[in-house]
Formats: sequence, C-alpha cells, structure tokens
Amino acid sequence: MTDQTAPLLWRETDAGRVPVSEQFDDPYYSLNGGLDETRHVFVNGNTLPDRWEQDLQIAELGFGTGLNLLVTWADWRKAAHGTLHFTSFEAFPMDKEDMAAALAAFPALADLATILLARWTAGAGVVTLAEGISLEVIIGDARDTLPAWAGKADAWYLDGFSPAKNPQLWEPALLQAVADHTVPNGTAATYSAAGHVRQSLTQAGFEVARVKGFGTKRHMTVAQKPDAQ
Ligand SMILES: C[S@@+](CC[C@H](N)C(=O)[O-])C[C@H]1O[C@@H](n2cnc3c(N)ncnc32)[C@H](O)[C@@H]1O
Repeated sequence: MTDQTAPLLWRETDAGRVPVSEQFDDPYYSLNGGLDETRHVFVNGNTLPDRWEQDLQIAELGFGTGLNLLVTWADWRKAAHGTLHFTSFEAFPMDKEDMAAALAAFPALADLATILLARWTAGAGVVTLAEGISLEVIIGDARDTLPAWAGKADAWYLDGFSPAKNPQLWEPALLQAVADHTVPNGTAATYSAAGHVRQSLTQAGFEVARVKGFGTKRHMTVAQKPDAQ
C-alpha cells in the first residue's frame, strides 16, 4: 500500500480532459487520440495481434490511468486468445477517482473500466480481471522493484513520461533490467524515439529499430531480444 498518490492537473482538449502530472509536467497519454496511440505504439509495436493465441506475460513501466491495460484487454478479448498476465510497475499510483475521470473519456472501454475500478486498490497483488486475464501493479520505484521481480515478459510497454521529464524511467540500468526480464524473442516498444533510449536498449542486448510513430509523430522505437544462444 502507499500514501504517495499522484497530484494532477486537467488540460482541456478537443478530445476531452486529459490528466497531466504536476510532478512531471507531462500528460499521461497523447492529447490527441490516446486510445489509438496506445494501440499503435504498444499493441502493434509489440506485434501482439500475431501473438494473442499464446499465453502472454505483458509488463509495463508506468501504470498511470490503466489506459494501456484496457486497450490491450479490449483487443485481446476480441481475438482467439491464450491467457494474459499484465504486470505494471508504478511509483505514484493515481487516486481511483482520478483514474475514473480519465477513463471516462473512452466510452468504448467503459465496461472494462468499470471492472478495473471495482477491483482497483494500489498494492493489491495479483487480481483476476476476467477469465484468463490478471493484473498486478507493483508499487514502488521501478528501479528498485523491477530488479527484484521474479517474472519475465513476452512484451514490454515502456511508457514513462518523456525521457526529458522523467529520466528515472529511462536510465540505462533500468533498461538493462527490462532486458534481463524479457524472454528470448520477447519484444519491447515505446513512443519515444530518443537516441539515448535506443542506445541503452541496444547495449542491454535488444535488436532495436526506429519505425513510424503514431499520427504526426515521425518515429517510435521497437526492440526484440535475440533468440537464446
Ligand atoms: C506516461 S505515464 C503512464 C501512462 C499509463 N501507461 C496509462 O496507460 O495511463 C508514466 C507513469 O510512470 C510513473 N513513474 C514515473 N517515474 C516512475 C518510477 N521511477 N518508477 C515507477 N513508475 C514511475 C508515473 O507515476 C506515471 O504513472
């Protein structure tokens, strides 16, 4: 459990109100098309539409509003699928009321948001969301909690605030811990195209590519861990 919740401001946009972290001075998701951006960057960036039939462990740096989880869950349940375990690392969990207010901007996800919010308590351990899908949000600084994690992910969502504003979540040692907690052939994706992020992922042992970003963003980054030798 934690008493460190995240202070927010709300920014009005054409697409609705978007939560902005006071601490990091950065929005939780794209001011334009948060849902489509999540799908483009994290779901498609990790080639998950080709992998839903496998049993999957997805892991994420930065749970925030839970939007990435809900988009993933919505796409997974539409496909023929195996089981899905979603583990996210979060230092400053949002208040439940703030999560609810943020997720209300996505009516297509309303039924899943209702289930998540009904089950959400920061630090609750592994929670079953529905048959075949579970969530664990590990509370604490990911630089401490990820190295101690016993799991390995098939796919990583690297979703810190921008590297300039939240450098802690992009440190080379943390990205090394990401690689160490990835299965052979496992993948990672991020909206960031920062050169030092690509370099750290490469040094950590990933094969890294810069690909087309969402909407007007020119680039994003995808990575794959080589097959076991
Ligand atoms: C861009 S937001 C994540 C958005 C989220 N994936 C969503 O779907 O709404 C970045 C998140 O990283 C968290 N964060 C920042 N520094 C952290 C750290 N050192 N360890 C763990 N989480 C951190 C923030 O509290 C914030 O929730």
